[in-house]
Amino acid sequence: MRADSSPVQAGYILTDFVRFPNRAGLHIAACVDYFGPSLDPQRPWAVVAPKFGETKKNALQLAYYLAANGMNVLRFDHTNHVGESAGDQTFFTLSSGAGDLISCGDYLEQTHGARHYTLVANSLSARTAIRAAAGDPRIRHLVCLVGVVNLRHTLDQVYRDDLVGGHIAGKRWGIGDMLGVEMDYDGFLRSAVEDEMHDLATTQADLAKSEAFVSFFSGERDTWVSLADVDAVLRGRPNARLTPIPGAMHELRENAAVAEKAFRDIVATCVAQVRGLPAEAVELKLPDKRELMRQNRTERERLRLTVRNPQDERDFWAKYLEKYRLMQSVDDYQSYLSLVGRLLGEIRPRDTLLDAGCGNGLFGMWVLRTLLERAQQAESPPVYVGLDLTLEGLRDALDMHSGYSLEHRRGPEARAGEFIGLLYGQTDLDTWGMPASEVPELLVFADNTFDKICCSLVLSYLNRPEVVLAELYRVMRPGGRIVVSSMKPFCDMSEIYRDFMDQRISESELESGRDLLRAAGKIRLKEEQGFYVFFSGEELSALLTGAGFRHCATHLSFGGQAAVAVAEK
Ligand SMILES: C[S@@+](CC[C@H](N)C(=O)[O-])C[C@H]1O[C@@H](n2cnc3c(N)ncnc32)[C@H](O)[C@@H]1O
Repeated sequence: MRADSSPVQAGYILTDFVRFPNRAGLHIAACVDYFGPSLDPQRPWAVVAPKFGETKKNALQLAYYLAANGMNVLRFDHTNHVGESAGDQTFFTLSSGAGDLISCGDYLEQTHGARHYTLVANSLSARTAIRAAAGDPRIRHLVCLVGVVNLRHTLDQVYRDDLVGGHIAGKRWGIGDMLGVEMDYDGFLRSAVEDEMHDLATTQADLAKSEAFVSFFSGERDTWVSLADVDAVLRGRPNARLTPIPGAMHELRENAAVAEKAFRDIVATCVAQVRGLPAEAVELKLPDKRELMRQNRTERERLRLTVRNPQDERDFWAKYLEKYRLMQSVDDYQSYLSLVGRLLGEIRPRDTLLDAGCGNGLFGMWVLRTLLERAQQAESPPVYVGLDLTLEGLRDALDMHSGYSLEHRRGPEARAGEFIGLLYGQTDLDTWGMPASEVPELLVFADNTFDKICCSLVLSYLNRPEVVLAELYRVMRPGGRIVVSSMKPFCDMSEIYRDFMDQRISESELESGRDLLRAAGKIRLKEEQGFYVFFSGEELSALLTGAGFRHCATHLSFGGQAAVAVAEK
């Protein structure tokens, strides 16, 4: 495969929003992407299935790559799932997902006369795609990216519990949160078992029924899908190819460089298959990045509007923080806090430290421990100010910090306990920068108040991060230092989670770990729905510079999944 140095001319990939019913009568919301100026239905078609818990927006990048290379692409939201399609999320099953895929084929055939198409599916949706391919000969080429081929094994890896085996043995879970999506666990598992989609043998049986060419891309660092299982599914199949992606985790896009290379390989494979060429002979075109970003913004806004009664942010974070205390036992998180502390620099007597969006005060705890280790005491101790949206978080922070301080006052390091002043305040950072007349209890600090500011894993959740950063700049003393961070776009927490769970022994510890995973899933979902935005190091740096900070440097931490930026005033 050869990549053109010049991208396809900007403005030439167009997207139409369409709706059509699936075979069960529920409407599917979809996008058709094509190389402009008009849709030529004679071009080869690809359907890109959404990942579990995601919408068609997250298939945009791959779809634009395919469209830039002459394919028409249909991407859609599953019914009974996240996004704009009809139905109730609790009813989502693998069979309903497979039904949606076949209905996409019906739409292409009835509306555009397409007799066959390429189907691209990612993670769990690959299992639905394999089922669809087993019964639909229109699917000529099946492309599975980090595809789940053994549901039982994958669920066991994720939950550290054999959900499928438990279901077969009569165990029931009811309605619950599956990676952030509210689901009927029992309905989902019942359907998977009854419709024979629950294990490796059923996947092998499905694939044996399909004549499609199968291109399977697997991640070498995938923690959810066993390579041995993938091998077992493809072994002996003449029309199949397995391509391991070096360095790739289950979330391919976690590493931008890996994703870029993988996308090129995937697109070359798709194009080569329809043109009957070897992939190496395909001359790849690249979509225009600005055009992609523009379309991404449009779809983000659309999705945000589709969410009915979004949960109150204060309630959301209060519930989230209940689970978050556990982070203290996560090694990668502790190393992350150490990095934040190191970047802020040594805390001196009289220093004023602001922890904006302090949550339940875990960074504050790190500060306290560090100061105590140094047994630092002073006539004028430093002052820590913790601010957060939730009273629950602040109470937790106050309890932990004051409990720790008291404990050490009574201990042998009696005087070392008097090492810091602690202050807490409830504030909605989204009100910062607004006129005082509009916000009755606006918290305003004087100019040049703080020496150090930590804003850890908060900016992503604010409506106007740039305004908050401008305020943080105003309240920081000249020469002061700020550290901000964000989970990376498309971060993958699976390795951190696996390492954490590997050390747990008791069932209650495991359940707490699952709770944290679900809480992280909820945040991902809100990002998916357009409420939150994760930033790369480069983006954090641009935000800081835009607010006036200088000497900005960026790092990766938290198992390589969080971007951290430090800067000065
Ligand atoms: C992922 S937690 C991070 C907590 C803490 N900074 C840490 O790194 O451990 C996000 C925090 O941002 C807070 N937050 C979200 N929106 C906020 C807002 N508008 N104003 C103030 N705090 C907010 C939440 O309450 C929560 O404590």
